[in-house]
Amino acid sequence: METCASVRECPATGKSDGGHAVALAQIPWQITLADPAIEVWLAPLDIPDHHLQQCVELLSPDEKTRAERMYFERDRRRSAVARAMLRILLARHVGLNPAELKFNLEPHGKPYIAAAPGPLHFNISHSAERAIYAISRNCELGVDIEYTARTITHEGIAERFFSARENTELQCLAPVDRKRAFFACWTRKEAVVKATGDGLRVPLDQIEVTVSPDDLPRLISIPGGRTADWTLHTVNAGSDYVATVAAHLEGQLRDAP
Ligand SMILES: CC(C)(COP(=O)(O)OP(=O)(O)OC[C@H]1O[C@@H](n2cnc3c(N)ncnc32)[C@H](O)[C@@H]1OP(=O)(O)O)[C@@H](O)C(=O)NCCC(=O)NCCS
Repeated sequence: METCASVRECPATGKSDGGHAVALAQIPWQITLADPAIEVWLAPLDIPDHHLQQCVELLSPDEKTRAERMYFERDRRRSAVARAMLRILLARHVGLNPAELKFNLEPHGKPYIAAAPGPLHFNISHSAERAIYAISRNCELGVDIEYTARTITHEGIAERFFSARENTELQCLAPVDRKRAFFACWTRKEAVVKATGDGLRVPLDQIEVTVSPDDLPRLISIPGGRTADWTLHTVNAGSDYVATVAAHLEGQLRDAP
């Protein structure tokens, strides 16, 4: 299982940006995976007011509007920080000021960098006060993080979205272990459908994965795809979080029979 093997701060961005991004770049921390071609970063989203203001200054008008539309102030702040951190992390790879990055969306909403110099894959997920980012030049990526210390009727969700085999495996676990296993299974599935860009419009029971947090995270079956092309990585995102990164070898995803 991949875990947080080492931690390092985000290096400064490629271009001068008045110092904001340099200060903010100290906030996220890096998680080392066994696959060095994938960068994984975690960021706290509840940050002091002066940093929040610096984050907002990096956002596009659309991103500011999207954050402002949120009902709760806490969610407005988290939305702004999550997006600013994404800009900071990606800017280093394209040699731009974080505020200069422009994003486009795939048909089902997966963002990509407009006019990036060469392939640069990334994905982001946020839950409660934490965001996770995965970045690679070689693999198509999906990430999912879930805050586990919340009330959730996970049995009902599993019945609806997990396969028969996954439900049986869940039921075989001790009751005390089921909630964490539910989130492990869920994040594995969601990371895969975020890597493909399809999102939750794909019937999740058709994407089969290992269930137990103690099992190696692995894709067992995917309609029309080759499981051998995929790797799943469990990320140690803190005691109240479960997170998975799914990676697919670039080029084969869209060509799968
Ligand atoms: C993508 C999706 C799985 C996200 O689930 P979630 O648990 O709510 O959110 P997460 O925090 O894990 O991920 C959100 C991030 O994923 C990214 N994202 C959005 N759509 C995506 C997609 N189709 N594939 C991969 N990533 C996507 C975005 O960066 C988003 O963050 P941002 O909006 O702050 O930039 C879910 O919203 C979905 O299935 N969308 C499909 C949308 C669709 O088909 N819509 C058609 C009209 S109903």
